[in-house]
Parts: sequence; structure tokens; C-alpha cells
Amino acid sequence: MCGIIGYVGAKPCASILLDGLKRLEYRGYDSAGLAIVNGRIQLRRSVGKLSNLEALLAEAPIEGSAGIGHTRWATHGRPSQANAHPHVVEDVAVVHNGIFENHMELRNVLESQGVRMSSDTDTEIAAHLVHQALNREGASLLEAVRETLKRIRGSYALAVVTSREPQTIIVAKNASPLVLGFGEDEMLCASDIPALLSHTRDIIQLEDGDLACITAGGAHIEDLNGRPVVRPMQHIEWSSVMAEKGGYKHFMLKEIFEQPRALEDTLRGRLHPEAATIHDYEIGLGPSALRSVQRVYLLACGTSYHSALVGRDYMESLARLSCNVELASEFRNREPVVGPGDLVIAISQSGETLDTLMAARLAKQRGAQVLAITNVLGSALARMSDGQFYTHAGPEIGVASTKCFTTQVAALLMLSIFLGRHTGGLTASRAAALIEQLTKAPQLMRQTLADLNEPMANLAKRYAHARDVLFLGRGLSYPIALEGALKLKEVSYIHAEGYAAGEMKHGPIALIDEQMPVIIIAPKDHHFDKTLSNLEEAKARDGQLVAITTSDAKADLARLSNDVFSVEPTDALLSPLLTVLPLQLFAYYVADAKGTDVDQPRNLAKTVTVE
Ligand code: M6R
Repeated sequence: MCGIIGYVGAKPCASILLDGLKRLEYRGYDSAGLAIVNGRIQLRRSVGKLSNLEALLAEAPIEGSAGIGHTRWATHGRPSQANAHPHVVEDVAVVHNGIFENHMELRNVLESQGVRMSSDTDTEIAAHLVHQALNREGASLLEAVRETLKRIRGSYALAVVTSREPQTIIVAKNASPLVLGFGEDEMLCASDIPALLSHTRDIIQLEDGDLACITAGGAHIEDLNGRPVVRPMQHIEWSSVMAEKGGYKHFMLKEIFEQPRALEDTLRGRLHPEAATIHDYEIGLGPSALRSVQRVYLLACGTSYHSALVGRDYMESLARLSCNVELASEFRNREPVVGPGDLVIAISQSGETLDTLMAARLAKQRGAQVLAITNVLGSALARMSDGQFYTHAGPEIGVASTKCFTTQVAALLMLSIFLGRHTGGLTASRAAALIEQLTKAPQLMRQTLADLNEPMANLAKRYAHARDVLFLGRGLSYPIALEGALKLKEVSYIHAEGYAAGEMKHGPIALIDEQMPVIIIAPKDHHFDKTLSNLEEAKARDGQLVAITTSDAKADLARLSNDVFSVEPTDALLSPLLTVLPLQLFAYYVADAKGTDVDQPRNLAKTVTVE
């Protein structure tokens, strides 16, 4: 995700802003920039690494002791200098993290007023709106930002400066973090604590709906209606490395806990409950392309392949489309029957996995429509595809994919709803019910993580020395079994296998004895009774049974299992979003107990750009 830094005080601030941005580099970015108030707004922006911005500043230094800086990880508009932040409209400069949901609507309004946009970003809209509001007689920057925020829907951490009030920064927060740092006769703001630590350890974390006016002397915080708000001051003891991980021991754990927020960002602005469908403005497939879809292929590798397996159920049951799921590395090396009439959905967190790229290219060459589900805007996969559906999970730093799995699942569910409404396979009432459940899913995830974190840490201690672990599941829980096994093996180096529970009798049952932990994913769905029989069979072989279920079935499983953990019931189609969470936690805590390099496990790369 993007990074924000702001400074107001007595010192020259260019190097302070640059230093702050460097401390946010670990989050990933594709362009950077800063704006300093020095009589007017002075702007420097560059694509690529911060060293490019540093070189630009060395060539053309800027004086001034109040300013804002930003590292951008593209979400709307490809990485480019024009799309880099800050966005400046005459004497106003804005940096923003998050997504404005109604940016298209506001862009149309501004363009109809004759405003010319100079970027593809949603953020530029805020710069124009603040500028317009400031021009109304007597408006202060605080009032102008407040007025602007009333017109904007979505998530934001925002910092705004104007040369009309050279020693003021206005900041605001909604669903994207923003922290104030209190120095000696100087104030800072940042999207993350590490950016502040070389100046101060006294901070205030803003809450959603907060708006603050900061000057060298301190901060005045209020709500969007102008009512003063008091937030507690905290003294941070973390080292800067701990601060990068948000206080978590590893990025993997941080990213597991980020999932509710990541899911909110994936859903943001896409659900259309009134029309019982999903907004189509970014899917990139026009009505005639959609009408021609006869069959869907889902292509991916690794964890993304597991989300594709979940997606197949969605495509079949909601869109009523025939759907093949393929490992990209296999697909591209066969003679697949693919061509016009096929919609190929290539799924890749990075958008750079070579096998997925090559498989998508092959399908495209043969006349299929290609739609990318990816987390990285402007990635190679996004560029070569006819349409792009971004997961907006934010950068995933841990090699083991966690938040990108759940956001891919959500993306596939949304696309299946969308296609189902087009094919007529899905009724408006069923679509509306799914959309309603989707909006509740982030909160259910939060609750699951809070309820199961400690129990999974305790379970992991007991099984950290297992040699093998078997994961079983049916239906939508089968890909979750595969994903649980993959997570465990990649971070803990324990041999783990995921199986369709119905396959157990066809071989894997031979492995089960009193030494073998068997983790069964069995939410109360229409497979439940059959999975229960599998559990009975595993128990008869003295396996160590761990069940992951829904709370309405906990009692049924308790008599058969050594341990039972439950998530809240939801629509059966959404259960993977919850049942995968305890498995991610289990893998993480086993690895941590074994002392492996959790974030960078041996032999693995985050992005596999070779065959
Ligand atoms: O970037 P991609 O989604 O294309 O990556 C695919 C796999 O390399 C990736 O999911 C890998 O399996 C992860 N390490 C799993 O945690």
C-alpha cells in the first residue's frame, strides 16, 4: 500500500520527508513524490525507486519547512509521473492512501464543469475539490477539506497543504491508517509509525472520521461535523523493525490479521445491492464479449490455483458456466482446447508468474478473452489481458500468500455473481443475499481471527514436531485443505498433504495411525454428513483429529475429534473466507515454534519468474 509522510516545523523538510519515505519503502511502491510549501507549492515526482526522487531533489533542491510526501503503489492509473502523488491544483497539494469509491461520478462532475484532469487517479479529484472549496470566500484549508470529504465516499488517509496557509497540514482518515507524531516545536504525520520514529515516539493514531489540523505547535482533531475529538497519546517503544511489521513478529502474521481490511478494500465500490449485481466498469468485457462466453478457464499457480478451485464452484453454481481449472504450468505445455467463446481468467497475486503469463498468452493467441485477477496494477498479466479485476489487498511481503488468497476468492465470487446475472443463471434474490453476506464477511473474519488466534497458537505448539500432517475437505473445503497443507509445508517444512475427503479411502487412509495429525475442514454444508463419515474412519485408525467447523456443528464433531475449532456460520459459498484463517494461523505458529524463516522460507521466492 502507499505511504504518506508530512512535516511542519522550523527545519528544512525535504530531507525529513525523504527519510520518512525511505522508512516506508518496505511496503512496496512504484513511484514517489513530495510537495513543499515555499511561497508556492514546489513539486518533485518520479517513477521507480526513491533514489530517483533523491537525484531529482539533488538537481533541483526545494527549501521550505512544511510539506507532504508519498510513495505510491498504483491502484487507479498505471505507475507514471503524472499519476504519482502529490497531486497539485494551483496552490493545493494532496497525498492520499485508499480508494475513492465514487471517483468516476466526481470526475464526470468536474469534467462537466470544464476541469481538465492531468492524471488517471482518484486522488486528483480531491485536489480539485479542495481547491474549489478554498476559492469560496473566507474558507480555511480545514473547512475546504471538510467540505470535500462530505462529497467523497471510500477509504482514505489524506494530507493536504496549501501555500495560502504555509504552516498548516490538514489530515483526515477513514479506513486507512494515519498517525500524528509530536516532536519539539514540530509535528509530523504518516501512514505508518516507522516513518516517525527518528523524530518522535509520541504519537496519536487517528480514528475513522477524524480530521486534524496540524501546525508546528500541535494538533487540533475534530470530526467531520467540526466537533472537537480527543484521542489518546501513545509512547511507542517498538524498534523500527518491529514498527514495520506493525508490532507483529512477522509480516506473515501481520498480513493474516490484515485480511478483514484487505477484503473490505476488495469489495469497496464494487457491490451494487440495489441492482443485485457487481459494478462492471473495470471488468473490461463489453456486453458482446460477455454474451459470447460459453466456458470459463481458471489458470493459476500455487495458492492462486487454490483460489481458482474455489472459483470453479462459484462459476458452476452461480454463473452456470462450464468451468475448467488448470495449473498454468501444465496448461501451457499441453495442446489445450481453448479459443473463441472461452473466457480465461488468469489469477496471480504478483501478475508476474511466468507460467501464468505464458498460459494466458497461449489462450489469448488462440482467440480466448483473457481477464486478469491480480493484486498488482500494471503488472505484466494486467497489461496483456483484455480486462483486469484488481484485488486491492495491498502489498504482500511474506512469501506465503495469505491475504491475497482470501481477496482472490472474493474477486472470483464477485465475478461469478456478475456473470451469473448476465447468463441468467443467478436470480436477483440469490445475488442480493450473497452480496449481503459478502458485506458481513470482513467482520466475521475479524471475529474468527480474534477467537482462534490463541487456540491455534496452542495447537501449533503440540504439533510443531509432527512429521506429516493430512488435511481433508469436501466441496469448497477441498481447496482449503490443499491451501492449509501448502501453507504448512512452505513455512514449517513439515510434510503435509491436502486431499478431497472422498479420496481418503482410495489411498491416503493407509497413512493414518496414532502419530498422524489429520485436520478436517467440515463446515455445516451439504457435504457435512459425508465428511463426518470420513472423520469416523480416521478415528477408527487412531488418527489425531482436528476439526475446523462452523459453530452450529461443533457439538457433532466434538465427540469424534481431539480438538474442534469453529467459525461463525455464513452462506456456504463464503465459508472458505473463514475456514482458511485457522489454517493460516496454524501454519504460522508451527513455523514460529520451529524457528524457521517465516517470511522468507528456504528455497522460495515471492514471485516465480522462471519456468
Ligand atoms: O503471484 P502468484 O499468485 O502468481 O504466485 C503463485 C505462487 O507462486 C504463489 O501462490 C505461491 O504458491 C505462494 N508461495 C503460496 O503461499
